[in-house]
Amino acid sequence: MKREKIDIYKGHIVFTKTKDHFTILENGYVIVKDGKVVDTYTSIPEAYQYVPVTDYGDKFIMPSFNDMHIHAPQFRNRGLCLDINLMDWLFSCTFPEEAKFSNLDYARNVYNILLKGLWKVGNMRSLVYNTIHKDATKLLLNMFLECGLGAYVGKVNMDINAPDYLNEDTEQSLLDTEEILMQYQGISDLVHPIIAPRFVPSCSPKLLCGLGYLAYQYQAPVMSHLSEDIVEMKLVKSMYPQFPNYGSIYNYYGLFGQTPTVMAHCIFSSDEEIELMRKNGVYANHNPTSNCNLGSGMMAVKKFINRGVPVGIGCDVSGGGDISLITVMSYALSVSKMVSLYSNKQLEPLKLSEAFYITTKGGGSFFGKIGSFEPGYEFDALVIEDNYIKFFEYNLYERIQQFIFLGSSENIRERFISGNNIKEPMFLL
Ligand code: GUN
Ligand code: FE
Repeated sequence: MKREKIDIYKGHIVFTKTKDHFTILENGYVIVKDGKVVDTYTSIPEAYQYVPVTDYGDKFIMPSFNDMHIHAPQFRNRGLCLDINLMDWLFSCTFPEEAKFSNLDYARNVYNILLKGLWKVGNMRSLVYNTIHKDATKLLLNMFLECGLGAYVGKVNMDINAPDYLNEDTEQSLLDTEEILMQYQGISDLVHPIIAPRFVPSCSPKLLCGLGYLAYQYQAPVMSHLSEDIVEMKLVKSMYPQFPNYGSIYNYYGLFGQTPTVMAHCIFSSDEEIELMRKNGVYANHNPTSNCNLGSGMMAVKKFINRGVPVGIGCDVSGGGDISLITVMSYALSVSKMVSLYSNKQLEPLKLSEAFYITTKGGGSFFGKIGSFEPGYEFDALVIEDNYIKFFEYNLYERIQQFIFLGSSENIRERFISGNNIKEPMFLL
């Protein structure tokens, strides 16, 4: 019979069961059995008295972060070309960079640095776009498998409205996507393929139709971009004048919640579009750093939350610059105050607990029972040492606030995924 592995961790335990409240246990215990949380406690229950305790003292133990939207091949371009808006940025900077990923040596170097970065900032699980390139996508999947971080990785599909060097042959795009699904589906608990049409302007009806069929046939999840930018909105309207909104185009092709789906940005989503997302259980992904950098606009994230749409958060490198979701979380809070102001206070700003919730449990729910320390959740966790208590006295809630607004990867001491303490990725290049 297999012996159970039991671990007990002690520290200040912080998580959000619900979006409205932090659960905080001062000097609490979290008991983990075979990688899953048994429960959190203020003292060790009788049955576990014999188990050695890993004591993190005055540090926090909190759920790790789940990034719902990052473009791996754009990592080199962080901080570049941010004085132009989406469509110009795609054509002048992003597409030329993505073209380089036909070269696997180039790709390996970028992924190596990216994966070390994801580990460093505590993004234990991510939804990752690659480029159109099949071999580079497989390489990225293999590197995730090797390093122990969790991810859904998508080969991007695009066959129209791009420079020739990135426009795929439609049939080949579908064949390559299917090959990846066949090779990688079900081989790991942590790393999975996902279908990733770039966005409606980049995909012919035939491609969208084929991808919808693959999603159905393989019951594969889907991720894409939605209602991000004014120029994009006009273009989509001119391509599909008969559709009531952008989301309904994906929906028509079976790419909008027929299988688990995440849509990024959702800045110009109409009430109808939001209702379709709610009805279909489509995740709305908030990318406030990217939206500010590209001048795309401000997503009314609170509206989606209030209406019961599942919400996650993402760095959207390289629209966003910083892969740390601590930065993205504080931007989400700031942007929500501006949205509130410009709605004449019709919409409340995000609460701190809501920002934390979407960064941990909200996005985490896409990956499974992830992002909380309730019984049965995977123990995906970070151990955090904060700075300022060296100089001043703070209560625990003040320390949490300060971490969200001022914290960084420098505060992270340990990183767990499904109960395993993950060390910095070291690839045999
Ligand atoms: N829409 C289509 N492609 C992209 C991309 O790479 N980044 C962002 N932010 N929006 C997109
Ligand atoms: Fe994006």
